[in-house]
Amino acid sequence: MKTIIEPFRIKVVEPIRLTTLEERRTLLAAAGYNLFAIHADDVIIDLLTDSGTSAMSAEQWGAVMRGDESYAGSPSFYRFETAVRELMPFRHVIPTHQGRAAEAILFSIVGGPGKVIPSNTHFDTTRGNIEATGAEAVDLVVAAAHDPDDLGPFKGNIDLDRLEKLLVEQGERVPLVMLTVTNNAGGGQPVSLANIRATAAIAHRHGKPLIIDGCRFAENAWFIKCREPGQESRSVKDIVRDMFASADGMTMSAKKDAFANIGGWLAVNDDTLAAAARNRLILTEGFPTYGGLAGRDLDAIAAGLHEIVDEQYLRYRVRTNEYIGEKLTALGVPIVRPVGGHAVFVDARRFLPHIPPLQYPGQSLAVALYEHGGIRACEIGTVMFGLRPDGTEVAAEMDLVRLAMPRRVYTQSHADYVVEVFEEVAQRRDQLRGMKIVSQPRQLRHFTARFEPLS
Ligand SMILES: Cc1ncc(COP(=O)(O)O)c(C=O)c1O
Repeated sequence: MKTIIEPFRIKVVEPIRLTTLEERRTLLAAAGYNLFAIHADDVIIDLLTDSGTSAMSAEQWGAVMRGDESYAGSPSFYRFETAVRELMPFRHVIPTHQGRAAEAILFSIVGGPGKVIPSNTHFDTTRGNIEATGAEAVDLVVAAAHDPDDLGPFKGNIDLDRLEKLLVEQGERVPLVMLTVTNNAGGGQPVSLANIRATAAIAHRHGKPLIIDGCRFAENAWFIKCREPGQESRSVKDIVRDMFASADGMTMSAKKDAFANIGGWLAVNDDTLAAAARNRLILTEGFPTYGGLAGRDLDAIAAGLHEIVDEQYLRYRVRTNEYIGEKLTALGVPIVRPVGGHAVFVDARRFLPHIPPLQYPGQSLAVALYEHGGIRACEIGTVMFGLRPDGTEVAAEMDLVRLAMPRRVYTQSHADYVVEVFEEVAQRRDQLRGMKIVSQPRQLRHFTARFEPLS
């Protein structure tokens, strides 16, 4: 088979400043060994996140010029609403400035002390927004998700038995059921159409709505097309529509599968919930036809939604990550398999078995990748998930380092460079040390905590 090439030409470029090892060591110390504190100009390959980092297309930049900045009733809003509803036909589409704003609005209405919100795995901002209301966020992903070598096709699925049990035992505390597609915090693994439908059926039998966190809906649909029996001859667009057909609403970060640099939305069918959400939106985000965004952002999202379901793009997108995953596996670097949709997740706990979880092997590996190659990756493990609301600390289920691929930004030689840096780090893995946290906030600590390497 021929190489699956980047299905686009590059029209605008952005130079990369190539730093030295010495420079990077100084920068790391100044940043408290937290890669979120490093200036992007000092990064060679930025794999911190795929969120908001997409290269926009010529069509999207054209749409930006078309953007209308009317306070109320902008045509940009209606183009945005039409594009969303073409894929996810919810009755109410409420724009927000990004995904977490949609979450904050939703949980300010349905959350609160004593409430329990189940999901396959809540992403950190979702968990943070739930816990900020005093509610409890519960992860019920299938057991296979915790085994990085299990090659199951849908390791993002929710465990239906555990969901049923929770609803039977504590149903009165559950205002809604969530599903994250793909399951970012669980390795970017997809959720099958069958699992989405079964989750909706269980939720509805208990009188609960199903809300999908749809950030990476197109990548999830591509996996359904490639892996779920009976789906292979259907278009991604049809699969997307089916994914949302049995749900009652969604939260969305348009910074992922809408190719936008900013934006999001909350969509629901329930009129009362929508009215409450819009009232809240006016307080915190803005009028319901712009919701914290400029009209031009809404147009960029609308154009991005047309492009994201392109199957040539999705084939290339998923292949990029597989390519890196295959090369890392050949080097003996343990990764979560199968490779997820938006990122390669490296199993830092297994890569650095001499560093215990509470000394943050993921952070140690992420720091080493920056030090040796200027690569910025993201710890998704005990730093991100280990701090409990009562201030105590536990090891996360896994200590991963996420190499998140920005959409349409890097080429195959950038990918080869990433692999070469891994090779160098792998050669000195025994010398890598754990980290300790010297300051941290009580919530979402990974963004601002400061670290020191242990001697
Ligand atoms: C699964 C998931 N949900 C929600 C969010 C939050 O979206 P945003 O960053 O736009 O607030 C993210 C962001 O990474 C995510 O991956």
